[in-house]
Amino acid sequence: MTRYGEPEDVMELADVPRPAPGPGQLLVRVLAAAANFPDALLCRGSYQVRPPLPFSPGLEACGEVTETGPGVTGFAPGDRVIGGAALPFGALAEYALMDAARAFPAPPGLDDAEAAPFIVTYQTGWFGLHRKARLREGETLLVHAAAGGVGSGAVQLGRAAGARVIGVVGGQEKARLAERLGADVVVDRYTTDFVTVVKEVTGGKGADVVYDPVGGDSFRRSTKCIAFEGRIVVVGFASGDIPSAALNHALVKNYDILGLHWGLYEERNPAAVIACQAELTGLVAAGLIRPLITERLPLADAPDGLRRLAAGRTAGRIVFEPLSPAAGRPAELVQRPAVPGRVERRGQHGE
Ligand SMILES: NC(=O)c1ccc[n+]([C@@H]2O[C@H](COP(=O)([O-])OP(=O)(O)OC[C@H]3O[C@@H](n4cnc5c(N)ncnc54)[C@H](OP(=O)(O)O)[C@@H]3O)[C@@H](O)[C@H]2O)c1
Repeated sequence: MTRYGEPEDVMELADVPRPAPGPGQLLVRVLAAAANFPDALLCRGSYQVRPPLPFSPGLEACGEVTETGPGVTGFAPGDRVIGGAALPFGALAEYALMDAARAFPAPPGLDDAEAAPFIVTYQTGWFGLHRKARLREGETLLVHAAAGGVGSGAVQLGRAAGARVIGVVGGQEKARLAERLGADVVVDRYTTDFVTVVKEVTGGKGADVVYDPVGGDSFRRSTKCIAFEGRIVVVGFASGDIPSAALNHALVKNYDILGLHWGLYEERNPAAVIACQAELTGLVAAGLIRPLITERLPLADAPDGLRRLAAGRTAGRIVFEPLSPAAGRPAELVQRPAVPGRVERRGQHGE
């Protein structure tokens, strides 16, 4: 990136010097880089972190350690790791830097593409659902963008916690994916009002927890079907619309609105992030969570991939494999359900 703008306008594939790891850093050969919605914001220069130009975007990756910087302990060349990239040397490159303190061993049961989006997808979900919303077994969880990146993780984590999961998605294809992820009830927002469905399937009680990466009407309408003592987790604003909360409504209906900024836990409470990662690694080993990878692409496809992601036209996670000769083949859809369960379809796709 030599200037800010829409990914398809400003991203260039260029040869640049290989970065050198500084104190506490790892140089990794990128095996797979995950695309996250904030990568598009990074390109636009509108993300909360604004790296100096020029920089390589790409917030997280699975990579092989090739060199360690001064003071690094616990990692050695050859280790397969996952972690957040240390900007400006982001993950959309053949080589990237990671802070060793923000890196973890890649979960053994996952291939490189599956491991790449593991941290943001599930750490966000875990902190949102467990640390903030205190989701309990038997509760009803409403997940917006349930076939998207963080949404797909929340569906799996909700099922793993014993909640009944209602997933809201845009379109039939995503509805099928949300079903495969384990959602008990799937609502196609293009054809069906989720508020009506939530009220119907909960006998008028409403959803105990709402996980909302979309904002706008998804948030506003969620307040119409939140249960007594319900919790709405504000995860993001993929719709581009940052809604205002009517606090008198929160008071009258007695629900909580919980802001979540997962990245701050890395900074303020790394011990909690480490404990969470151990738990998530256990959930993978138990077969309860597994990233939904829908596209494995070469690096040259990154501008188009990020454009489609920002427009809401991708599902699950798309990943870029800079060095893989196999990348660029038609997408291989991972279709392992998190937990087998009965799926109820709502909306046109199920009729
Ligand atoms: N709070 C945190 O710590 C944290 C951490 C990670 C990510 N996030 C945020 O979570 C959000 C989702 O990130 P992600 O990477 O997982 O993306 P994503 O869910 O894969 O993509 C966004 C999804 O939002 C839905 N959407 C609804 N209206 C949309 C619109 N007008 N434009 C685009 N998408 C729309 C689409 O799904 P449907 O069509 O199925 O509705 C789309 O697929 C982002 O806002 C991101 O910044 C927050």
